[in-house]
Amino acid sequence: MRVASARSEKREATIKVRTDIAHQVCIKPACGATFGVEEPLFECPKCAGLLDVRYDWSKAALPRRLKDFEVKWADQADPLAFSGVWRFHELIPFAAREHIITVGEGRTILQRADRIAPYVGLAAGRLFLQYEGLNPSGSFKDNGMTAAYSHACRVGAKRAICASTGNTSASVALYSAVDGRIPAVVLVGSGKIAYGKLAQALDYGVRVLQVEGDFDVCMERVKQVARELGLYLMNSLNPFRLEGQKTIMYRILEGLGWEPPDWIVVPGGNLGNSSAFGKAFQELRELGLLDRVPRLAIINAEGADTLYRIVNQEKIRWDDGRVDEARVAAFYARMDAENRRAKTLASAIEINRPVNLGKCLRAIEWTDGIVETVTDQEILDSKAHVGAGGFGCEPASAASVAGARKLRAAGVIGAGDRVACVLTGHALKDPNITVAYHSLAEAALGEKYGEYGVRAAKHANRPIVVPDDLEKIIEAIQA
Ligand code: F0G
Repeated sequence: MRVASARSEKREATIKVRTDIAHQVCIKPACGATFGVEEPLFECPKCAGLLDVRYDWSKAALPRRLKDFEVKWADQADPLAFSGVWRFHELIPFAAREHIITVGEGRTILQRADRIAPYVGLAAGRLFLQYEGLNPSGSFKDNGMTAAYSHACRVGAKRAICASTGNTSASVALYSAVDGRIPAVVLVGSGKIAYGKLAQALDYGVRVLQVEGDFDVCMERVKQVARELGLYLMNSLNPFRLEGQKTIMYRILEGLGWEPPDWIVVPGGNLGNSSAFGKAFQELRELGLLDRVPRLAIINAEGADTLYRIVNQEKIRWDDGRVDEARVAAFYARMDAENRRAKTLASAIEINRPVNLGKCLRAIEWTDGIVETVTDQEILDSKAHVGAGGFGCEPASAASVAGARKLRAAGVIGAGDRVACVLTGHALKDPNITVAYHSLAEAALGEKYGEYGVRAAKHANRPIVVPDDLEKIIEAIQA
């Protein structure tokens, strides 16, 4: 859907979005090279560092207070006010209205989760879930993809590419299919992608390459192909994607009446979200729109715990942009020497070489953030609780709730703290695991998932097998 209504043209006059407002900057202070927003880049051409989109805020039409964004709710007939991403256009002003492709993404809200709070160790009114599974493609990715896809159109991209554990590919495929101008190709690891996600990519008609290898292999290949063929890269290395993902935090703030929570808890995979969230809060603080920033808790699966090791064992820090690159390289060299591959049932975060590591370390510094790990058993048990509380999510998403529970038990999260966990993807993305957890007998579960350390389903809601016999059916109902 391209947005061009009489109303939008009128709005254009008030939101003066021009190309000179935004530019791209290498995040390494020692480099600091800048580039125009018209350039399709996924790494700094000078030093291969990560890129930020930055703004000359004095030229942006910012509201006086965050609360002023609420007026957009009254203007829902305008597709940009309807989108939960673009109703914050003034805080991501790199694209003019006529370049924006929206499918009504980001209409997700913060849900108070009183029925799940006791499991996490919190009182009623203290646990909130930001349910990003409600997006058009069923995951948070659409927040970023509307931004990246809009940018791709603006720079005249002919073809787009991404590596994916499934959700990125589903989201790219959706925008490509709806808009039709930029065909996409997606690389997924063989046998590494949940069926719901693969089904979406196939259904939306993108070219799917199943590569013999895992996500880290696909990601490396995608970078090579993008360089070689000049394809537009849609992974979270793309700085425009992260601009869209900032809005998840604006909606959490909005859900709490613009009072920041104490904690944002988010699963960590390729570390795009955590990077974007840190940037969102840092900008709001710099703009004087927020005086207190929540702490970020980033949760790795135990079998894909690069960030946890880097931060908690190697003690590597952002250190004002002076990340000890030699020690990071030595860490990865050891990982390769040990032939350590990521391994978790939370397939969305089965990643050992997170591309946004540097930005994530920066976000940790900006938000006084922390990193924790959870086991696959903890993830699946938490997922069952989230489901029983009425918010179905996929395994990776439940890592946030499992992480909050662990941090609460350790006293890191206080009893009175307000905690917002991001549920990144919908339960229907990965029905196989859900059905296995709830229906398999313990021995069968252990046989299937024992290699992931999953042996029990304490919170299983077992289906009851009954013959076609009225007495037996009534008996089963009344049992
Ligand atoms: N949760 C879900 C449901 C995801 O799909 C992903 C990433 C993450 C969490 C991790 O987020 O990368 O920002 O730290 N999925 C990517 C994909 C890698 O290809 O779909 P992150």
